[in-house]
Amino acid sequence: MRRVLVTAALPYANSDLHLGHAFSTYIPADIFSRYCRLKGWDVVFVCGSDEHGTPVSVAAREAGRTPLEHVEYFRRRQMEDLARLGISFDNYYRTHSEENRELTEEFLIKLRENGYIYKKKVTLFYCENDKIYLPDRMIKGKCPYCGAEDQYSDSCEVCGRTIEPGMILEPYCILCKTPPSTRSEEHFIFRLSAFSDILLEWLKSKSNEDFSRDVVNYVVQWIKSGLQDWDITREDYWGFKLPYKDAKDNQYVYVWFDAPIGYIASTVNWSKRTGRDWRDYWMGDCLITHFIGKDIVYHHLLFWPAMLMGVGGYTLPGKYVVNGYLTLEGRKMSKSRKWLVPLKRVLEKFPADYIRFYLASKASNSVSDNDFSWLEFMSKVNGDLVDNIGNFAHRVLTFISKWFNRRVPAPGDMEEQDNDFASSFMKMVEEVEKEYEKCDFSQVIRRIIEAFKKANSYFTAKAPWEAVKKGGKTREGEAATPLYICINFLYSAATCLYPIIPSSMERLFEMMNTSASWDSAKRFSINAGHVINEPKPLFRKILEDEVKAEMKALEEGMVA
Ligand code: MSP
Ligand code: ZN
Repeated sequence: MRRVLVTAALPYANSDLHLGHAFSTYIPADIFSRYCRLKGWDVVFVCGSDEHGTPVSVAAREAGRTPLEHVEYFRRRQMEDLARLGISFDNYYRTHSEENRELTEEFLIKLRENGYIYKKKVTLFYCENDKIYLPDRMIKGKCPYCGAEDQYSDSCEVCGRTIEPGMILEPYCILCKTPPSTRSEEHFIFRLSAFSDILLEWLKSKSNEDFSRDVVNYVVQWIKSGLQDWDITREDYWGFKLPYKDAKDNQYVYVWFDAPIGYIASTVNWSKRTGRDWRDYWMGDCLITHFIGKDIVYHHLLFWPAMLMGVGGYTLPGKYVVNGYLTLEGRKMSKSRKWLVPLKRVLEKFPADYIRFYLASKASNSVSDNDFSWLEFMSKVNGDLVDNIGNFAHRVLTFISKWFNRRVPAPGDMEEQDNDFASSFMKMVEEVEKEYEKCDFSQVIRRIIEAFKKANSYFTAKAPWEAVKKGGKTREGEAATPLYICINFLYSAATCLYPIIPSSMERLFEMMNTSASWDSAKRFSINAGHVINEPKPLFRKILEDEVKAEMKALEEGMVA
């Protein structure tokens, strides 16, 4: 039996989640976790909120809250949305927790003992007026590349470039708007460069299935062009204190250091709740699988494994699933331009499974970007879910209800057409399994949809309604065989779909009077004589008016 730990990137608890987060990270991680559970593996799926850092404290100040009040507010809202989206975490925790503080201190102390943390003088911005050091996000100024005013000192929202420390023009403190002075302080630095060779070796030892080539190639490029050591110290900051005696009182741990440790903290917290041992997953034989968006590859494939290597005793990540960004109607999502769709809004209007299905159909474990379009969403749901899948389920279940008194009939002689269809759907399960292992959910869906198309044609070609009209022996033989095969196909296909659209498939299993199991999906497991329940419609069509209204609201800036 395989042991798997699944993590989804910890969302910053400073805004509501939108379709982009769901697409790249939470839906893929949930699909994979559900797949692992169906296979009967020992899987723990953890996540939590990322609560530290300047973006959080700046947003809190703007909202008139303390950082802790602010993260509590958004943490709750994010949890509601993720639950509504059907994300089946085993534990959802937080980085501002005792578990995480203890682990972070332990990491910092061990890394220093092992020689991977050293001190170095760095130049910082200081506000003489507010008497505090100003981290990146507390300084604004003019972009040195495009000249845009009022940009944060680390990146420009207008031209999209990253701005190096100290490069911002005409800097000012966001609290009092006066220009800062510069000062020099001793910082604690993580010796990332010491891990170059061992990181390279580790990356090269991995299969394409677990570490996609795309991602590995550019990480290898980064290493070959020389890794910079990493400054993990911040002054006057919302985060954990540095645990060193020689650190100053106003020196804190940079958010990206304690954030991934939050994955472990969430597992430790799960241990406390369940009595299971977190060490089995983080220090034993376990496939640690991280689901992330493409913007945080550097943190997860360089900083994080190097931290684990430097401390020692931990199992290294064994699989990464990285998805690209989601654009909206062909344009980059942006909060300031009100061009995004919060999950709260879509989940009020449409069933979670419709969103899961549409977004999963684009999630191929690849860093290329994908687009969300309301019209495409409608046609995908109406075409694939309603007309293809829903229609087939309805045909088969109502037929068995009506003509066989809800009892699955015993098959008669199998003809070539029956055998062909039966073997093609067994092949589907095998192929889908391979795509699930690769976390290419776009291919999973493509294969299932093809199979349902075949199934609909098979049903039509067999025309069991002709046989039942004739009655007697013909009804038993000619109608029974295709229905027997079709309900078995429906069972297998529903199992394959379950990780993607779990609540609809649960209703379908309820109608079929059975439940999902991957092993059973590989054979004919619904026997003659099995009694099904009353069939009901599975999906509803999306109306053009509904999506047109969403597009209009988006254009008018009423959504974000
Ligand atoms: N807090 C960090 C992750 C720390 S993990 C130890 C973070 N948070 S986030 O809220 O900005 O993003 C959460 C997830 O959503 C990340 O995987 C990120 O890559 C992803 N995305 C954020 N914006 C996105 C899009 N517009 N499109 C697709 N994915 C996006 O990063
Ligand atoms: Zn100031």
